[in-house]
Amino acid sequence: MPADAQHNLSASRGRRVFLTGASGFLGRSLLSRLDPAKYEKLYCLSRSAPPSAAPASVAWLRGGLADTSAYASALAGADCVIHLAAATGKLPPKEYFAVNAEGTRRLVKQCQQAGARNFLFVSSIAAGFPNQSRYYYAQSKAQAEEIVRASGLRYTIVRPTMIFGPGSPVLAGLAKLAALPVIPVFGNGTAPVQPIAVADLASFIAAIVDNDFFSGETLAFGGPDVIPIEELLRKIHLLLRRSNAKTLHVPLALLLPALTLLEVVAYPLLPLTVGQMATFRFDGTARPNPLWNERRSQLQSLDAMLAAALAHDAR
Ligand SMILES: NC(=O)c1ccc[n+]([C@@H]2O[C@H](COP(=O)([O-])OP(=O)(O)OC[C@H]3O[C@@H](n4cnc5c(N)ncnc54)[C@H](OP(=O)(O)O)[C@@H]3O)[C@@H](O)[C@H]2O)c1
Repeated sequence: MPADAQHNLSASRGRRVFLTGASGFLGRSLLSRLDPAKYEKLYCLSRSAPPSAAPASVAWLRGGLADTSAYASALAGADCVIHLAAATGKLPPKEYFAVNAEGTRRLVKQCQQAGARNFLFVSSIAAGFPNQSRYYYAQSKAQAEEIVRASGLRYTIVRPTMIFGPGSPVLAGLAKLAALPVIPVFGNGTAPVQPIAVADLASFIAAIVDNDFFSGETLAFGGPDVIPIEELLRKIHLLLRRSNAKTLHVPLALLLPALTLLEVVAYPLLPLTVGQMATFRFDGTARPNPLWNERRSQLQSLDAMLAAALAHDAR
């Protein structure tokens, strides 16, 4: 075993880790990558039932971020808190703030009180978008980042790009659009995206925890390939329908004011929101960092992740 691996193993053995969001798309992948041999106890907070096959080192705590009594005692003695839980998808605006911002505030406060020092917060690339007007998810993630930065805890903030893999909620949404006979492309379709494989992102997170890398940085992680959003939709269409896509460009200058008006009267009924248009408007790529550069050549290509995930999801 190389010397640095030996060091990491002994550094993490006997540690206690507290994880939120373990039942979600990213959390399930991360759970399978946190080596139980390295951790004395892994506390998972979730409102869902535990998975049927979890290692004995996993203690599943039933509850939400607001139920501080369900998890406060588990934070005492936790070496590291990995906070993935979030309100995702299309929800009433107040839910994003209640879970993502206020939920994070509560968790941070409990960490401060319990003396849990190291905090890994999974945010989103959207938290850095230049215009977050009516994008409540992005606003709530940006607020949560500020809560973490001001907490006095040792922290790392991880901003993933869109995450792909079997069961990816974001890929499912894009596939719905891309499967249409004519794909609607909002705006000019040139906004760059850089999807990352869920397994690769989970490995980055595990590496941060294993190496005790909490130096107050905000690290963005994407995959190895950057392409315009329209080209991504075309690739998905080709894989799903085995034919080249036809597209229809919908000008954002028309769509955004119309959606803004409609959101005021019919937000819950709309299939699309102004916030969701952000993917078509802004640069969704990650600035490289040393950890990403180190592993870049090993990351799953976009073509490989699309082929595997779409084949899996079609079953
Ligand atoms: N998927 C992406 O493309 C993407 C991209 C960028 C960033 N992210 C971020 O990555 C993280 C994981 O995303 P994901 O795709 O895995 O999300 P997901 O599949 O929607 O899972 C959300 C998780 O949050 C938990 N959760 C939600 N509300 C909660 C509450 N009130 N209290 C406690 N737990 C709660 C859920 O657990 P229970 O329902 O079991 O309680 C679930 O485990 C999130 O922070 C998300 O913002 C995701």
